[in-house]
Amino acid sequence: MKSWARRRREIEVSRCWHGRTGGRSRWRKRPYDVLLAVLDKAIRATPLFARGYRNALDLRRVEFDLVPAGLPPSFDGYRILHVSDPHLDYLPDLVGVLRKLVEGLDVDMLAVTGDIRGDRRQPAEHPTALLVEALAGVKVRGPRLAVLGNHDPVEMVDALEAVGIDVLVNRSLVLQRGVDRLRVTGLDDVHSFYTEAAQAALADHDGEFRIALVHSAEVADDADRAGYALYLCGHTHGGQICLPGGRPIITHLTRCRHAASGLWRQGRMVGYTSRGVGVSELPLRCNTRGEVAVITLRRAERL
Ligand SMILES: [Fe+2]
Repeated sequence: MKSWARRRREIEVSRCWHGRTGGRSRWRKRPYDVLLAVLDKAIRATPLFARGYRNALDLRRVEFDLVPAGLPPSFDGYRILHVSDPHLDYLPDLVGVLRKLVEGLDVDMLAVTGDIRGDRRQPAEHPTALLVEALAGVKVRGPRLAVLGNHDPVEMVDALEAVGIDVLVNRSLVLQRGVDRLRVTGLDDVHSFYTEAAQAALADHDGEFRIALVHSAEVADDADRAGYALYLCGHTHGGQICLPGGRPIITHLTRCRHAASGLWRQGRMVGYTSRGVGVSELPLRCNTRGEVAVITLRRAERL
């Protein structure tokens, strides 16, 4: 086992999660879990459950351009399919919905920003197979990349790599088009598995145009200071259960809370927090919908 995997496994079986703000005892989440279990039982007996379930299956495909600073000319028009938090083992009915939504897409990169798995008791291969089935109709011309989320175990790396998805765990991949270079850096989940290796990965570059793939937005300020131009993430599910107007009640962010959902800016860096494909804990959504995003990178002078 590689040293990063050994360290991650230690955290997976320890009593604490390690976030960017320090250790958090798992016991602190216990009241929240109990509340959710009670809420789950109560809501299943009401018509709200059917409505929330329908909302969870009402997945959207959003398409938009982003103009990150310093995009090299050869990457003008570069298209990224951004998928986050599929959790397809929690809600397998989403597989067919997602498949229809992305069928026939032609993109340059697939970027999956974590939480492939939902249920922590599931082996990594099961949600991976569901994701492969859902994305079968997509043509990806370049790299298929993923990072780990807080629901994903060490074994997820082998499961994804076995189906041709390269998992960036605190390391980078450099793409070259002629003289132009684009560096994609992927971090291990920084909400529960943060280590100094994440900072080292952010600092490791040769001055290229850089994109960060991270499960959560919690190190957006670090990435901006390190000179990243674009940051793609998920984790919050857009709140999943929101107040009217889409205001999240809970985001599970310990910092950088301004980046809880959708498009945001941090210094010179632009970021996008996906509302996620799937759900966790409750198979419901309220006042928010899941999504996949097709993002086209554009150079500023074209606009
Ligand atoms: Fe998630």
